[in-house]
Amino acid sequence: MSEISLEQMCHSARVIVTCGTGGVGKTSIAASLGVIAARAGRRVVVITIDPAKRLADAIGLTESLGNEPEQVQISASGEMWVSMLDVRETFDNLVRSAAPTPERATEMMENSFYRSLSRSLSGTRDYMAAERLYELYNDERFDLVIVDTPPSRNALDFLESPERLARFLKHPIVRVLIAPGRGGLRFASAAITPVLKAISSVVGSDALAGVASFLRAFDGMEKEFTQRALAVARTLRSDDTRFVVVTAPSPDALREADHFVSELSRLKIDLKYVVANRMPPRIGDTSSTDQMNFARNATGDVAAAHTILAGLLVDAERAEAGIDEFIARTRVKFPPAHLTAVTEFPTDIHSIESISELAEQLAAPSSAK
Ligand SMILES: Nc1ncnc2c1ncn2[C@@H]1O[C@H](COP(=O)(O)OP(=O)(O)OP(=O)(O)O)[C@@H](O)[C@H]1O
Ligand SMILES: [Mg+2]
Repeated sequence: MSEISLEQMCHSARVIVTCGTGGVGKTSIAASLGVIAARAGRRVVVITIDPAKRLADAIGLTESLGNEPEQVQISASGEMWVSMLDVRETFDNLVRSAAPTPERATEMMENSFYRSLSRSLSGTRDYMAAERLYELYNDERFDLVIVDTPPSRNALDFLESPERLARFLKHPIVRVLIAPGRGGLRFASAAITPVLKAISSVVGSDALAGVASFLRAFDGMEKEFTQRALAVARTLRSDDTRFVVVTAPSPDALREADHFVSELSRLKIDLKYVVANRMPPRIGDTSSTDQMNFARNATGDVAAAHTILAGLLVDAERAEAGIDEFIARTRVKFPPAHLTAVTEFPTDIHSIESISELAEQLAAPSSAK
C-alpha cells in the first residue's frame, strides 16, 4: 500500500489509529477521517476506546454510544458508523466464543473473580480494545475501522496487550494454575501462593474466593485466547494499519507529541501521518512594505486593527515554526512522515457539519507539506 496523502490513506487503509495528548483533537480528526472515507465510498466504523462520551458529542449525537455501531446520517456514497468500547460486553462475547459449551461460558461470567477482572483492571480494558478492534476488522459490514484513543500517555499500551496476554498464558505458573485438575496444583502450591497474593492485592480478597473456580472454568479456553491475541497483534502491525499522531501547536502539546512519536518508534510501528490541528489562521499579510507604511500612517481604529492583525500573524508564525521543528524531529525517526495542517475553528466542534468542514481541510492538497 503506497499512498501519499491522508485522503489516499482513507481510501485504502483497513485500520487507522489516531493518537496524541489530551484535547488536541484526536476524536474530531478520527470522525473527520471517517467522513472522508465514507465520501470515498467506503463503509467505515469509528470506534472510541475512551470512556468519555466525546465522540457522540463531536458528531452531534444526543444518545450515548455503546459497543454496537450506529450509523450516522451523512451524504456520502459509503457509510459512516460510530461505536464506543464496552469492556464488559466485549469480554463476555469473547468468553462465549471461546468456551466449549454455553454452560461453561455462563459459569465463567457469573464468577466473582471474572466480574472484577472484566470491570476494574486497566490491562483488561487495553486487551478488550484490541479484541474489539479485531472483531470490527473482521466484520463484513465494514471496510475500515478508525480507532480514537483516550487522552493518556499510555494510550498505545493496548497495542502491546494481545502479545502480553499471549505471553502471560504461556507462563508455566499460569499453565499450572489453569489446569489444577491435571495434578499440577498440589506440587506447585509453593510457587502459586505469591501469585494468588498478588492477584488478591489487585482485585480484593472477595474476588479471590472465585479464583479457583474461575481457573477451572478457564481450563481449555487458553488456547483460543492465545490464538486470538496473536491474530489481533498481527493485524495491528500489518501494512493495512496506519497511525496518525495528532498535535496542536502549543509547546506542551508538541512535547507530548514527541512522546507518542517515540512510543511508536519503540513499538516498531511506522508513522506515516501527522496532523497539526488548531493552527491559528493567517489572516491577511501585515508584513509587506506597503502594509507597514500604511500602518505607520494610520491612526485610531485602523491602527488598532493593524496591531491586532500583526499580533495574529506573530501567533501564526510562531505556531508554524513550532510545527516545522516538530516534523523535522519526527522525520529523523520516520523520514516519510507526512504533515497535514488544519486551522482552529471559531467555535467548538459539536456537529457533523463542523466535522465535515474539518474533513474538507484535511483532504485539501494545500494543507499538506
Ligand atoms: N480545529 C478545531 N477548531 C476548534 N475547536 C476544536 C478543533 N479541534 C478540536 N476542537 C475542540 O477541542 C476540544 C477537544 O477536541 P477533541 O475532543 O476532538 O480532542 P481529543 O484530543 O479527542 O480530546 P481528549 O484528549 O479529551 O479525548 C473539543 O471541544 C473540540 O470541539
Ligand atoms: Mg478524544
